[in-house]
Amino acid sequence: MRHIMNALDLSVEELDKLMALAKDMMAHPDKYAEICKGKKLATCFYEPSTRTRLSFEAAMLNLGGSVLGFSSADSSSAAKGESVADTIRVISSYADICAMRHPKEGAPLVASMHSSIPVINAGDGGHNHPTQTLTDLLTIKNLKGRLDHLKIGFCGDLKFGRTVHSLIGAMVRYPGIEFVLISPPELRIPDYLRKETLEEKNIPFQEVSDLDAVIGDLDILYMTRVQRERFFNEEDYIRLRDSFILDKAKMDLASKDMLVLHPLPRVNEIATEVDDDPRAVYFKQAEFGVYIRMALIVVLLELA
Ligand code: CP
Repeated sequence: MRHIMNALDLSVEELDKLMALAKDMMAHPDKYAEICKGKKLATCFYEPSTRTRLSFEAAMLNLGGSVLGFSSADSSSAAKGESVADTIRVISSYADICAMRHPKEGAPLVASMHSSIPVINAGDGGHNHPTQTLTDLLTIKNLKGRLDHLKIGFCGDLKFGRTVHSLIGAMVRYPGIEFVLISPPELRIPDYLRKETLEEKNIPFQEVSDLDAVIGDLDILYMTRVQRERFFNEEDYIRLRDSFILDKAKMDLASKDMLVLHPLPRVNEIATEVDDDPRAVYFKQAEFGVYIRMALIVVLLELA
């Protein structure tokens, strides 16, 4: 039995196989329509979600399985003080696999230690979001044609943005990757990521605060929302929330091949006028999320 806490739990070879399976599922959905018949997915979400929870559920339904779960801590017995460890012990007897989102970093890991079914981290605090990373990798691979030799700009809240932390960790395994980290000084990537993932591995990166100055050099621009729920005070959030707004004028400075990704939800950081630009692929990215989660469920249940 295997759990997924981090995208790095999968080797590059395993990721290649997973993406190939997701691609086959996209092309031949009928082939997989009953592969999870009789299996149940529990979605245990202690924090709000639209895409991750519903794409996990859509994934299991597409595979012929069933879903059960809760969508907030308040609607579960966590509100009465039940521990994650006790909850997962119980859910292990109700379902075959569990996707868990929790505001506390490491909570899905604790769950995995007390579980007798595979647990997938569906986002833990500001730490990791591995299935978003798998979604991002599938999006880049399918729409850019490669995962190597790319200059990737991350823009916005790089301190609290768990999708950024996960994707940087996953991309450094491919050759020729360079990062441009665009944020206000207060929202730069955490020190551990700069030291252990970038500096120790000699990955080229620059930290800047002017998007206009660098957008023309990028292959990928990964926009992020300023994570209001992780701020300690509202004043700081209000001061920083509109630090970057990608609009048509900025897109005019970018190359014709640059792709704009965003894990969503968006607030103000991408003007809606950008949505019709063919380089804006964030809604397509959300669609890819269903297929990579289908592939992950099938692999973890050892059905392929
Ligand atoms: N990208 C993402 O995690 O979206 P949700 O918070 O809506 O699940």
